Amino acid sequence: MPVSLPTRLASLVAASLLASLPALAQQPAQRLGLIPLPREVSTPAGTYSLPQKISIYAPGKDAQNVAGLLKEMLAPLGKTVTVTNSAAGAQIKLLTASTVPSAEGYRLVVDKAGVQLTAASGPGLFYASQTLLQLLPPRPSASSSLPYVRIADEPSFQWRGLHLDVSRHFFSVDFVKKYIDFLASYKLNTFHWHLTDDQGWRIEIKKYPKLTQISSVRKETLIGAQQTFKKPSDFKYDGQPYGGFYTQDQIRDVVAYAKRRYVTIVPEIEMPGHSVSVLAAYPELACKPSTYTPWTMWGVNEDIVCPTEPTFRFFEDVLTEVAALFPGKYVHIGGDEAPKTRWKESAAVQEIMKREGFTDVEQVQGWFNRRIEKFLATKGKKLIGWDEILEGGIDASATVMSWRGEKAGIEAAKHGNDVVMSPAGYLYIDAGQNPVPHSPNEPLHISGYLPLDKIYNYNPLPAELTPAQQKHILGPQANLWTEYVETPNKVEYMLFPRLLAVSEVAWTPAARKSYPEFVPRMSQHFARLDAKKVNYRVPEPLGLDSVNMVKQGGKAVFTLRSLVPGAQIRYTLDGLMPDETTTLYTKPLSVPTGQQLLVRAVTIAPNGRKSPPAEFIVK
Ligand code: ACM
Repeated sequence: MPVSLPTRLASLVAASLLASLPALAQQPAQRLGLIPLPREVSTPAGTYSLPQKISIYAPGKDAQNVAGLLKEMLAPLGKTVTVTNSAAGAQIKLLTASTVPSAEGYRLVVDKAGVQLTAASGPGLFYASQTLLQLLPPRPSASSSLPYVRIADEPSFQWRGLHLDVSRHFFSVDFVKKYIDFLASYKLNTFHWHLTDDQGWRIEIKKYPKLTQISSVRKETLIGAQQTFKKPSDFKYDGQPYGGFYTQDQIRDVVAYAKRRYVTIVPEIEMPGHSVSVLAAYPELACKPSTYTPWTMWGVNEDIVCPTEPTFRFFEDVLTEVAALFPGKYVHIGGDEAPKTRWKESAAVQEIMKREGFTDVEQVQGWFNRRIEKFLATKGKKLIGWDEILEGGIDASATVMSWRGEKAGIEAAKHGNDVVMSPAGYLYIDAGQNPVPHSPNEPLHISGYLPLDKIYNYNPLPAELTPAQQKHILGPQANLWTEYVETPNKVEYMLFPRLLAVSEVAWTPAARKSYPEFVPRMSQHFARLDAKKVNYRVPEPLGLDSVNMVKQGGKAVFTLRSLVPGAQIRYTLDGLMPDETTTLYTKPLSVPTGQQLLVRAVTIAPNGRKSPPAEFIVK
């Protein structure tokens, strides 16, 4: 049978991935294993040994801040740090210089004089410090020898975002801080905090205490994947009340924590949709008087707030408190998935339409958004919303987060709106990571498959935009919705290693990105993640597939490879799940054909954690 072109291309790509690693490993930027890949790297011959006791020269406020963080971050590596005002004798020098052109860019030099980090200001110094950490061994070691290196680096995009939904499942302040550390260590700078939704309101608002008393608690939660049930009467619930919220003091604490790491928080307050938890506490904001409860299942709820004066008063009060808590320029107002069922039935909405001359109820949401945008402007804030905000008409001053693909983002950029690209097919990291659809070996997740390479190869700048229009693309953002992400461990499982791919989408110019080069660099990070006790998804072995199968005299031969350095590969041919007791892979695996054998292979990482199996039926 002729080999189809896509198969042929796939096999060439796979073959080059396997074959080209040693050559790539010679390149300085590759060998250093830095993520995101810096712009310019050179490695003169030589190494500098960083002693156990380090002094850091940090003149000025930004340098002092970053030196303080470096002191904390170097402590787990066994280093004791003194921050000094004297350059003489300092092993690490943090310098601010206007000669570094980009506000977030930096230079890092390691030579016989030690380590010098130079940047225009705090963010650049911080990113330089993150690069420095990646040059050091992940764990305490007797000799911390740094390669001589000269790096000049700056980000491609000003918005490098990661989102977390804390409504569907709630995450503690401590974990949110850890999440912010994840962003910052891979040079992301925007944390989109999805604070409110149908299933729970999670931010204390002093003027509306019932938001935390009532809206923050749902009676119970759906068990299992909603899409697997035919109708709501088949749904089963856990019977456990579920709640949680952040006090304003906690929010201020998290904001300060993020600010210190040069991460801006974008708070999201959903309106007018995804708001039934608000109606549970304040049913007078509904179009239809009724009793409402925070939702216990997932999806799009028709019970949304009515766009009447009490609702404006409510959101203006809420946004007044939100604007005072979050120093960033943006406030996200949601705006997605707001069915107009209730609005169409409402006499109040009919009246608004008549008064404003609207012929389509979608225009009412546009009018609602424009009013909210004007209000936010009085607080010095800019409105950002999901791409549905385009539908009712918005001003060019609003920023659009394109999630239903890129189309809305492209349209918005053409209209002169700023855009954050967050297309679900490329950047929704609540989707699965297993090539086998609905694999029973993967923890429960929302439908969809989003592998590393698909994320990695995403380019936030659509080719069809002119350079002037492309300037409106602020950058990319990955989103983590948590309907099926119940615990911090599972957040980490969904996030890693995919966050490393997101990092390069946001930081590294498209022209410098290469997936085959990224993979071996990524591999060097598993030990770093282990040192930080991150519950990353251990990747399954590569090579157990039709593309890499070689037929030899009645056998199918597979050369397997693990992405995790120092890992074992173990396999079975009897359909059972491989584990520590099954056969160790030591040489190409030769499987008899003609018997329909199910071959399964797992990676067992040095920390003992096991990957889901790679699976292939040899016919
Ligand atoms: C969204 O995913 N509903 C913005």
